[in-house]
Amino acid sequence: MKNVKSEARDRLCTVVLELYEQKALKKVVLSKPDASDEIKSVLTPMTISQNYVLQLETFSRDNKAFHRNIKGEYDKELDAIFSSYSQINVVSTAGDIQYMRSKGGKETLLGEAKVRGQLASGKVTAVQSKSNNTKKNYILSGNEDFLKKLGVSDESGRIRDKMQAKFRQINKFVEHIESVRDKLPSKSINVYDLCCGKSYLSFAVYHYFKNVLKMDVNMICVDLKADVIEYCSNLAVRLGFEQMEFVCGDIMAYEMKLKPHLVISLHACDIATDIVLNKASENGADVILSTPCCHHELNHTLNCETLDFVARHSMLRQKMCDALTDALRLLRLESCGYKVDALELIDPEDTPKNIMLRAIKKKRVDEAELKQLKIKYEQTKRFLLGE
Ligand SMILES: C[S@@+](CC[C@H](N)C(=O)[O-])C[C@H]1O[C@@H](n2cnc3c(N)ncnc32)[C@H](O)[C@@H]1O
Repeated sequence: MKNVKSEARDRLCTVVLELYEQKALKKVVLSKPDASDEIKSVLTPMTISQNYVLQLETFSRDNKAFHRNIKGEYDKELDAIFSSYSQINVVSTAGDIQYMRSKGGKETLLGEAKVRGQLASGKVTAVQSKSNNTKKNYILSGNEDFLKKLGVSDESGRIRDKMQAKFRQINKFVEHIESVRDKLPSKSINVYDLCCGKSYLSFAVYHYFKNVLKMDVNMICVDLKADVIEYCSNLAVRLGFEQMEFVCGDIMAYEMKLKPHLVISLHACDIATDIVLNKASENGADVILSTPCCHHELNHTLNCETLDFVARHSMLRQKMCDALTDALRLLRLESCGYKVDALELIDPEDTPKNIMLRAIKKKRVDEAELKQLKIKYEQTKRFLLGE
């Protein structure tokens, strides 16, 4: 499609530039690329060394991300970029625009008129543009020895391209922990990471409590995979992370020997998240932070006539079941005396699995209220399963 002039694309370029100039542009997501080795690209306004620029980030199929700042004649540059994608979504404070190009070359542009109307009204709010200095705001910098040894950063502390998303993920997770510090002990803490996998998060959390907050930490990490557990145990020894213990086994059968102050879990597969939440609440954890992974159970067992109008569309069915599952999980935790929230772990651009379930044990509970919540939980389950 390169170099073929297009009126729809011209209009799109003009309105994107106007949004950018009025600082109303949040991002442009470019998908369905012509290049087979690419997944997608994202254009984001950034402030780099006090200059307001448009940055293009391209994600390739071999898990690499490339960045470049748009220079020169913006309209020509944008047109050249846009011509290589069949779907373009513009997100702005003036509204959203969608551009699509079919295989036969038919183009559709939706939402442009509304956005133009907003721009003309002069009532568009400006976006706080992202800065390339966001790194220094993170709790982890990349220079930490454990990140280098885990291969997240290189010897100079630069985050490796394919580990950028993981780095942001663990940083954000640690930020969530920081936000509940007043609910946790301040001197000595017992932390469990259930379904720890390669334990990027566990090492980060241990480092945060031990080296940043200078606390006494007992960190216990459990996973089914023997090779991964062996690798992590050896790494903990090499790092001198003495109070880290790695256990190979099924979390269902695992018995917590220390009182859990904090239970964390990142992307425990399917019902493993439910096992984590049950184990943590049964053992009276003070705080539970869990980001679920894919979930299939309810998708297979849902049997609810009232929701058939959603469930008959397979994609919507999965999204609805994901939301219902997480809401049910929170309702169950609430009925066990926790204050609960569903938060966003990270930008959905990084991973769609970005819901953070947060549960904080209440100091005082109303037993009658808990009883009602338990009834509500059971009723909701029966309603969804058609029992
Ligand atoms: C998607 S990985 C996530 C790993 C890690 N938390 C992360 O985010 O990088 C899910 C992990 O859960 C573990 N797992 C699944 N079910 C489990 C169970 N019942 N007991 C222990 N580990 C389990 C798997 O072995 C796998 O390492």
